[in-house]
Amino acid sequence: MMNIAHRGFSSRYPENTLLSFRKALELDVIRQELDLQITKDGHLVVLHDRRVDRTTDGEGATIDLTLQEIQQLDAGSWLSPEFAGNRVPTLTEVLQQLDVQAILVVELKFEGNEPIPDVIATIRSNNAADRVVISSFDHAKLPVVHKIAPELPTTALFQPDERSPEEWIALAKELGIDTLGPRCGAIDEVYVRAAHDAGYLVRAWGLGRDQGEEMTRLIDLGVDGMTTDCPDILQDILNMRSLS
Ligand code: G3P
Ligand code: CA
Repeated sequence: MMNIAHRGFSSRYPENTLLSFRKALELDVIRQELDLQITKDGHLVVLHDRRVDRTTDGEGATIDLTLQEIQQLDAGSWLSPEFAGNRVPTLTEVLQQLDVQAILVVELKFEGNEPIPDVIATIRSNNAADRVVISSFDHAKLPVVHKIAPELPTTALFQPDERSPEEWIALAKELGIDTLGPRCGAIDEVYVRAAHDAGYLVRAWGLGRDQGEEMTRLIDLGVDGMTTDCPDILQDILNMRSLS
């Protein structure tokens, strides 16, 4: 069962910062999810929202700001003054400055497919192709990734109740992905069995605070991984179960 720290250890530290990723690594949670946006001058930066307003002290759309402008922003004090001074990292910084044991689930949040070759070139030039998974809600991006970099595993993210398990599996075949990424909650036994029978991994997302029961339910269902803001809680649950 893969415990994946969503935007790092984001229930306690400012999301998508090197601090947040390092704090998850300190828990021995080696899998880290992050979001990619693109700047006005074409740099890949690790930010969830299209705008910088929620998670920095700046304002505006990432696509209207240069890398230099974004690097001047404080990406920590929005959560707490104790995190002031944290910055928005680039994809290159994350690949180079995190311990090489970190496995990164890189979600493509930017619009369009144009930046995809650069994402792949950045991963390859940092010798990270064996420790990166690409994910997206924008399913049209995934065959593009697969065509350029068939060595990279890909995950389609979605709301499971929008289609039946059979329809999601048919789509997965079309997209050439490895893993189905449904939101937690609507996943049931039939769903997990259908995905596994068809040869797909199931990685659930959307697990925040106070969802220990849902984590336990998903473990019992046999899901292969979970992306959570609370990797500490999931780790405790997994440890307790391996002891019992
Ligand atoms: O792991 C999937 C999850 O990150 C998708 O939701 O909005 O947090 O990027 P979001
Ligand atoms: Ca994400």
